[in-house]
Amino acid sequence: MLRSEPISTGFYVPERVIGNEELSQWMDTSDEWIRQRSGIVERRWVDGGVGSSDLAKEAAEQALNRAGLQASDLDCIILATLSPDVYFPGSGVFLQRKLGIKNIPCLDVRNQCSGFIYGLSIADAWIRTGQYKRILLVGTEVQSTGLVLTSDGRDTAVLFGDGAGAMILGPTEDGDRGVLSVNIHADGRHAEKLWMEAPGSRYKPWLVAEQIEKGLTRPYMEGREVFKHAVVKMPSAVKEALEANGLTLEDVDYVIPHQANARITQGVAKSLGLPEEKVISNIHKYGNTTAASIPIALHEAVEDGRIKRGSLVCLTAFGSGFTWGAALIRW
Ligand code: COA
Repeated sequence: MLRSEPISTGFYVPERVIGNEELSQWMDTSDEWIRQRSGIVERRWVDGGVGSSDLAKEAAEQALNRAGLQASDLDCIILATLSPDVYFPGSGVFLQRKLGIKNIPCLDVRNQCSGFIYGLSIADAWIRTGQYKRILLVGTEVQSTGLVLTSDGRDTAVLFGDGAGAMILGPTEDGDRGVLSVNIHADGRHAEKLWMEAPGSRYKPWLVAEQIEKGLTRPYMEGREVFKHAVVKMPSAVKEALEANGLTLEDVDYVIPHQANARITQGVAKSLGLPEEKVISNIHKYGNTTAASIPIALHEAVEDGRIKRGSLVCLTAFGSGFTWGAALIRW
């Protein structure tokens, strides 16, 4: 049976480190509040003039190097982001251009924190059907430039970071490895609980000064609602993935949840009855990098040897929409 398998991974974060103390220069917050509520110690922010496709290029080149491939070997790009370089076209085409290639299809996925899992579902399906053989899947975000760096924006400004993570996927007929399954879900009843309202086509014109004044162009989040759903939906997606493959939690080496908040990650571990060391967390270093968080955490775990050939890894995400899902991979 033809399956998709990860061939390599890559990641990139901007050099500029923003510690919690630095944030408290601009807004009424504290290292203690941020650490206690989120587990975040620092995050990386771009210096400006940099878009999500720039970070994606760095992560993609690292993944290409690790795989011993050239950009010209790719036959498809899937890019997940909530922070595209421009409103349209998608950042995938800018990434394609920056990698110096042309003609191959570029798809942007707009499923925020679940974007990487949604993108993986598409990549996996395309490879299984034989449509493409070398897919570059990237989750990439430049969120810092959209945050409000005053006390008014502190509820979200302290949480989000910039970064990119990449995976190259190809076909395998080795029955023991590869992407075993990807399950994705959405419930649009909760769309306004984590969203950015403007600009948008329901306004005429799409963007006016009043929207900025009213704060509609900044992320809005009902933090507690998001929290409540995240700690239920991610464990349920993990269990669904295992059941679909006739596996149990005992078979799993690592769960990599979307890095939204250390307390959410601990809640996922608790709900699944897994020891915390089996549920990977790196949020202290990068904050919430939305579509990039899972591939960055995955890359780090592969690089430091926690994930090795034969490891059973479950990726799971939850975010705006609400959208969520899980993917089970035998490395
Ligand atoms: N620094 C200091 N105080 C802050 C603050 C900050 N950065 N942000 C908010 N506060 C204040 C609030 O104004 C509130 O003050 P009040 O009680 O005087 O009104 C107080 O802290 C508590 O706010 P609350 O929102 O109730 O805190 P919380 O315990 O729910 O924690 C989150 C807030 C955002 C950390 C938490 O809800 C969460 O993690 N939610 C999920 C967020 C997430 O993961 N989003 C991305 C999903 S993909």
